[in-house]
Amino acid sequence: MLFIISIILLILNSINGINYRPVVLMHGVTASASDMNELAGWIRQSFEGIYVVAIEIGNGFEDSFLFPMNKQVELFCQSILSDSKLKQGFNMVGVSQGSLIVRGAVQRCSLPVYNLITLVGIHQGVFGIPSLQFLPAPFRELISKYAYEEPVQNALSVAGYWRDPYHLDEYYKKSHFLPDINNEGKTINETYRSNMLKLNSFVMTYSDKDEVVSPRKSSWFLGYKPNSLDVEIWNQSRQFTDDLIGLRTLSEQGKLYQFTCHTKHQDAQHTPDKDFIFKNILPFFNNTL
Ligand SMILES: *[C@@H]1O[C@H](CO)[C@@H](O)[C@H](O)[C@H]1NC(C)=O
Ligand SMILES: *[C@@H]1O[C@H](CO)[C@@H](O)[C@H](O)[C@H]1NC(C)=O
Repeated sequence: MLFIISIILLILNSINGINYRPVVLMHGVTASASDMNELAGWIRQSFEGIYVVAIEIGNGFEDSFLFPMNKQVELFCQSILSDSKLKQGFNMVGVSQGSLIVRGAVQRCSLPVYNLITLVGIHQGVFGIPSLQFLPAPFRELISKYAYEEPVQNALSVAGYWRDPYHLDEYYKKSHFLPDINNEGKTINETYRSNMLKLNSFVMTYSDKDEVVSPRKSSWFLGYKPNSLDVEIWNQSRQFTDDLIGLRTLSEQGKLYQFTCHTKHQDAQHTPDKDFIFKNILPFFNNTL
């Protein structure tokens, strides 16, 4: 019966020319576009005729950590803006480091994004050795000891979102990336906020089994409190109270979605999390141009 209904829906869709919004996917650090194949397949199988594209920046695997974040966001925007199929608007997913690339791109490049979805994101940065385990060993020490030195900021993506709660002054002053897109500096960039407020929804997913992101709730935009390893409380965080990039407004408008999944970091968009993705994430692609 279900099979027959889905056939009928497919036929009706093609008669009516259903035109699903395209979907853009951005992978995480030390990964490449092929890491998004499984998720892309689920989306294509669920929405007949949908255009899904996984973006690659540079060579993928190495450049995902050897290009600083500002450069990655810039190259990402160039790729999107040169794809004529995306001009009318699209939905977008960023995984892990990809969460910051996609959000940075919305804020800086005013991309026509409808639903912005982040999986095991790192919105309030990372700090601590677990979050460096995926990097080749020689780079771990560079980050943990010298993250805010100019050459390291210029060389490694992770330095751009290393948020050391014991050196927040340095983070605000010297980090090239995260304090800027999070509007934590002295001057607020109103464009960043107004671009976030154009979204139909902003989705943040954290995993309570994440063994990489520290603090885990960075995926929900919570970082460590100053000089401690206690995690911020959502409605007491400055991001929320001062509505720095519009999250409080989005939440008041019912456009902010927070989900919890239960997978290891690397599994967030893969088979171990298939049921979660189908139930909670795929509905955000069920919209047309
Ligand atoms: C705000 O961001 C936009 C987009 O990146 C940029 O063009 C503009 O110069 C920024 N404004 C300020 C005050 O930094
Ligand atoms: C923060 O959230 C708690 C728990 O939901 C609630 O009791 C409290 O009133 C909230 N505070 C503000 C300032 O919104």
